[in-house]
Amino acid sequence: MMTDDEKLWYRDATFYEVPVRSFYDSNGDGIGDFRGLTMKLDYIKSIGMDCIWLLPFYKSPLRDDGYDISDYYSILPEYGTTEDFEKFVEEAHSRGIKVIADLVLNHTSDQHQWFKEARSSRDSKWRDWYVWSDTPDKFNGARIIFVDSEISNWTWDHVAGQYFFHRFYSHQPDLNYDNKEVREGMKDVIRFWLDKGLDGFRCDAVPYLFKREGTDCENLPETHAYFKEIRAMIEKEYPGCILLAEANQWPNNAKEYFGNQDEFHMNFNFPLMPRIFISLSKEDSFPIENIINETLPIPEKCDWGVFLRNHDELTLEMVTDEERDLMFREYAKVPKMRLNLGIRRRLAPLVDNDRSILELLHALIMSVPGSPIFYYGDEINMGDNIYLGDRNGVRTPMQWSFDRNAGFSHADSEQLYSPVITNPNYHYESNNVESMSRLSTSFLNWFRRMIIVRKQNSRVLGRGTIRFIGSDQKQILAFIREYGKEKMLCVYNLSRSPSYVELHLPEFNGWHLREAISSVRFPDIGELPYFFTLPRHSYFWLIMEAPDENS
Ligand code: BGC
Repeated sequence: MMTDDEKLWYRDATFYEVPVRSFYDSNGDGIGDFRGLTMKLDYIKSIGMDCIWLLPFYKSPLRDDGYDISDYYSILPEYGTTEDFEKFVEEAHSRGIKVIADLVLNHTSDQHQWFKEARSSRDSKWRDWYVWSDTPDKFNGARIIFVDSEISNWTWDHVAGQYFFHRFYSHQPDLNYDNKEVREGMKDVIRFWLDKGLDGFRCDAVPYLFKREGTDCENLPETHAYFKEIRAMIEKEYPGCILLAEANQWPNNAKEYFGNQDEFHMNFNFPLMPRIFISLSKEDSFPIENIINETLPIPEKCDWGVFLRNHDELTLEMVTDEERDLMFREYAKVPKMRLNLGIRRRLAPLVDNDRSILELLHALIMSVPGSPIFYYGDEINMGDNIYLGDRNGVRTPMQWSFDRNAGFSHADSEQLYSPVITNPNYHYESNNVESMSRLSTSFLNWFRRMIIVRKQNSRVLGRGTIRFIGSDQKQILAFIREYGKEKMLCVYNLSRSPSYVELHLPEFNGWHLREAISSVRFPDIGELPYFFTLPRHSYFWLIMEAPDENS
């Protein structure tokens, strides 16, 4: 049995997002699999990750990379067997690593047996599992999400003789959550996988489950009520397991998914992510500071998942038109870099592989409130391939070594599910785990060290409050994290030029400062403002010690 405090493990944890397909191919068929992922658990442990988030691994025609599920109860054969999955979870647990998995509730694949039955006849017991209409104009307040490929949320189905509703691709019919059997059916899916040892779910596309005429069909009370039921079930039957929401919304709507600590444990901080890039581009701390203030407070036992990139396009749905224009101008100069309302690039290419910026961004997401969630390969500054379709350019094989296929697979390279990255600036011959592990100054080893420092300070950085320290230098972002007696001062220079700043810290007169990574002692805080000089795109993490401690 977990203690109440142990049940809050997600508040101090580091998360690692992994597609099984892309990580390691154990049988040489060109596709990553569970056995391969199991073989690489020691690596995941070595970079200090506490929880793995698995992308969908269920049976699927793979027209949306597995988010189009055709059977919730079986594993895609290319990824392995149920036994391989169970062995993987067991091996992860034996290393102290938790595992959560994607759960796609909103829709299925049109290849799912439920949909095949549903479309076959109006009298089918499954007909009502999906959302049908004789005309395509119901729920017209619902926005289209995949604007580059869909012109309507309704698609005519010849077999059914009716239109069906889909929030995403037209091969992903939405389930009808007004149907009790659907609601209960999904609870069974949840139980099935938690019984196999999972520690929770990343719940896909949560705002859209219920639809109501006259609304935008997002964040409806019915949807919240259903997730509260799921949460109650988890608390009762699987205490210690977590629910992480993918609710890409404006701050107020996003916060609602925490409920009163009775809905989601975590939610991705979608509002913060683009504003980090905006702040960087404008050399102005305001967008970050402002959005963090808007996304707090949240209930004590809940947490944000903070991230820079993931397997999708860098979404710009929840920013103003002006902010979106700025993001496109700065980070997606070539049209091929754009997809829907977003940017389909990996982190390193987004910032022109600038080491200082990459360090600054990672340090930032490790030090703002929330648990950091890293995308596989970003720790080795993997590049992308914008010439691959959809979001596939950010889903290429993990680069393990300078061997054939980046050490990912023994298959012929033509057989790989995706080409490896060979662009000279990001070539797998240099950007790979083996080479970067050998080089003490590599980004990978910097990342490992920072994760250790983050873990040493996991209470204050994981659970502490945040207080911004203003100054007359807009390019400087400074804040104090505080948890009980633990305090950390973080200072970031968001500018491409060196900067100075005077921080007014009158209540800390006489306090000591110790640089968190090196333990080097800095001058004590005095009566006068504390003066910092910072090279371009640099930062300090400083542990604050009260005058009577270790003087
Ligand atoms: C996932 C996407 C997916 C979509 C439809 C999401 O928000 O992250 O990768 O295409 O849901 O399932």
